[in-house]
Amino acid sequence: MRQLVGPPARLEGAVLLPGDKSISHRALLLNSLARGTAHVSNLCHGDDRVSMLRCLRGLGTRIDRHTDCAITGATECFNVRGRGHGGFDEPSVVLNAGNSGTTLRLVAGLLAAQPFFSVISGDRSLRARPMGRIVRPLTEMGARVSGRMEDSLAPLAIRGGGLRGIVHETAESSAQVKSAILIAGLHAKGKTTIRQPSASRDHTERMMIAMGAELATDGREATLMPSDLRSMDVRVPGDISGSAFWLVAAACHPNARISLPGVGINPTRTGVLEVLREMGARIRVENVKEEAGEPSADLVAESSDLSAVEISGDIIPRVIDEIPVLALAACFASGTTVIKDAAELRVKESDRISATVDGLSRLGARVEERPDGMVIEGGSILRGAECDSFGDHRIAMTMGIAGLLAKGETTVDGGEAAAVSYPGFWQTLNDLAQRP
Ligand code: S3P
Repeated sequence: MRQLVGPPARLEGAVLLPGDKSISHRALLLNSLARGTAHVSNLCHGDDRVSMLRCLRGLGTRIDRHTDCAITGATECFNVRGRGHGGFDEPSVVLNAGNSGTTLRLVAGLLAAQPFFSVISGDRSLRARPMGRIVRPLTEMGARVSGRMEDSLAPLAIRGGGLRGIVHETAESSAQVKSAILIAGLHAKGKTTIRQPSASRDHTERMMIAMGAELATDGREATLMPSDLRSMDVRVPGDISGSAFWLVAAACHPNARISLPGVGINPTRTGVLEVLREMGARIRVENVKEEAGEPSADLVAESSDLSAVEISGDIIPRVIDEIPVLALAACFASGTTVIKDAAELRVKESDRISATVDGLSRLGARVEERPDGMVIEGGSILRGAECDSFGDHRIAMTMGIAGLLAKGETTVDGGEAAAVSYPGFWQTLNDLAQRP
């Protein structure tokens, strides 16, 4: 699908975001592992949720979708009937995680603890992403896991059960790896400790604690004792990663005001707010609330004068999914923005360093690619051009926002990739741009 975007005279409106993708995945998976029935509402939309639902149902979890739920009052609600530990069925088909790295890695953690054989795989992009980082610790815990290329790529074949806790230190700060190990650790013998170079998103830890797990964490290190989970109703807050596109659109457009109600503001995810504010973006955070261990708030962003910043070090895992759209914001900032320590971007749904540099350069930005990031010279005038999503939802949406900000018309080839995490993205973009 080729998506055409042009610059509107004004950008104004309120955007209702889909539910946070990371919290949605955990709400479905951890409630499948728990005993009891849970109601999960405001779940994320898109292909990635389909992938998680397909894998959990493939293991025998009953998950029913209701509209106009009488219990939660939500327009859409999922009833998850937990199977409890030991309650899953050996899947008779290959579990298909689609494009979703979170689904594959978190479900692999669950499979490692099950006393049966299973195979999990995904689409071409996912089959090229590194899995050795979960295979090694899950194997050390006692699961038999093998995969292509010396057990480093999916499909992964897993014969699980009989796990023991380990102390594992990772080279990368990855919430997916941490979560896979913690999920396996719930039913391992003894305690499981995972240590990472910097704090990564902590939704798994928060939800496990709220569901009764014995878990202690200081951000970089988490220690879990074997625990059974109690099911828990979850109302998922709006996706801060989805909000980033509109925050950048509003901050960079000369005549804009966008409000975003009910956005998750877990501190391990708010790096995007910190970076944009440091750049000078006018963003207000109002009506802070907390539900099921996760804070949320209403955000309002307006046209702003931006200045360059350096994005590096410990903040990188807290801003990892927003770097492509922050690179776009840097094109509108005065001065030189340096993004470094972000080599992880090369193993996302696409190589997001080269995809971002390719897209922004096509529009006339001065961007230099580096092995672990990029350097962006702000202040050049972007002009509409033809660019590609590289099959990656966040690149498709970044280039869509670039189209709102560049002069003339921008074409995004493969714009349909946005549906992986944000199926309503293009509609919302058109609605915001058309308001008088
Ligand atoms: C996610 C963690 C991040 C992020 C991904 C979702 C999660 O990946 O990029 O979109 O839900 O745990 P890593 O933990 O591998 O960095």
